[in-house]
Amino acid sequence: MEIGIDKIGFYAPHLFLDMNKLAVERNVEPAKFTIGIGQEKMAVPPITQDSVTLAANAALNILDEEDQEKIDVVLFGTETGIDHSKSGAVYVHRLLGINPNARAVEVKQACYGATAAIQMAKGHIALNPESRVLVLGSDIARYGLNTGGEATQGAGAVAMIISAEPRVMAFEGPSAYLTDDIMDFWRPVYSDKAMVDGKFSNEQYISFFSKVWEQYKKKTDLTLADFEAICFHLPYTKMGKKALRAVIDETSEAVQERLMENYQVSTQYNRNVGNIYTGSLYLSLLSLLEEKAELAEGSLVGLFSYGSGAVGEFFAGRLQPNYRKHLFTEQHQELFVSRKEISVEEYEEIFEETLPSDGRSIELDIHEDPAAICLSGIKEHSRQYINKQ
Ligand code: HMG
Repeated sequence: MEIGIDKIGFYAPHLFLDMNKLAVERNVEPAKFTIGIGQEKMAVPPITQDSVTLAANAALNILDEEDQEKIDVVLFGTETGIDHSKSGAVYVHRLLGINPNARAVEVKQACYGATAAIQMAKGHIALNPESRVLVLGSDIARYGLNTGGEATQGAGAVAMIISAEPRVMAFEGPSAYLTDDIMDFWRPVYSDKAMVDGKFSNEQYISFFSKVWEQYKKKTDLTLADFEAICFHLPYTKMGKKALRAVIDETSEAVQERLMENYQVSTQYNRNVGNIYTGSLYLSLLSLLEEKAELAEGSLVGLFSYGSGAVGEFFAGRLQPNYRKHLFTEQHQELFVSRKEISVEEYEEIFEETLPSDGRSIELDIHEDPAAICLSGIKEHSRQYINKQ
């Protein structure tokens, strides 16, 4: 039985900041952000969006009535959850009207959470071939104004339906994975901003990729030449390129050219959104599938997931016959063109506007936010969500 991605959707907030303008304001050469880091635009979440609403908005437009009925597990990968106890999955389950006889759980290991969720979904479907699992990767990446990580912030979510006989991509062969207890990036429970050892995190990302790739080759006898493309977790779009460069010499020039060209395509969406942590690898996959019209059915695509702290995994999937028909390309392109640019000043104001940390109730103005699902306030310590549709 084949198991894989049957549908894949994406959502980013409607506001963005131009990285050239941020560079000028921070006294940095714009080329450092757009070429050195590889980011053009950064998605900026208004206060009416959190990891729950981003995830629910990503899933909203890809689900039909049959999915609502057949989904019996909701797995919510996030590292910017809204509650220490209750999972974001339970809110999304209600907001999307999913079958009550479902499990709903949050999965955490930095940016690796959605990959862990996919692997769990595979196990569930192997035992229950009729079921469908909704996997979400949703986050808001915050490092702080004027910090080294600022240019690598972002916000957004990817939603995937994992099922048997998938129409987009079937996972194929084993995974190679690795865990090591390191402090490259983390966020203590008292902080709403990430802590990071930037240079060390880059080194560890490359080292994890090299190690899992070596392990994968031994397990499968595959080489770089077997892959049409490799998609990466993209904290910023230069990062995956650095990792790919670390191993690319082991293949022919023609394959190198193909992998590098497809790598560029796979970074297109991420370049315009920023880091979305758990969803980032899958946003890169989406970019490859939706932006490369001539990507052949039957192609093998490699996937490298990395979550600081750290866990890395390499696995692969094969594109299914007619996969393009089952993408939501137009909807995603519409999302990009309808976004609104904000100034650096507006971005800073939005960044500083946080929810009360003392438990006070608050009502938020949701009229400025065009998203279907919004956070409308906090009442008696509980977040109030509404679906305008
Ligand atoms: P930095 O120190 O400000 O940047 O921060 P830099 O000085 O290293 O420069 C970056 C690149 O720009 C360099 O290229 C420069 O040469 C180039 P490289 O040598 O790297 O190829 N550059 C220029 N290029 C063209 N024209 C110019 C110019 N000037 C300089 N004029 C850093 C960079 C990524 C460290 C910082 O943004 C940061 O700390 N970000 C957050 C951490 C991060 O993203 N780490 C990535 C790996 S860890 C990971 O992926 C996990 C994560 O997603 C979290 C999770 O798992 O939950 C983060």
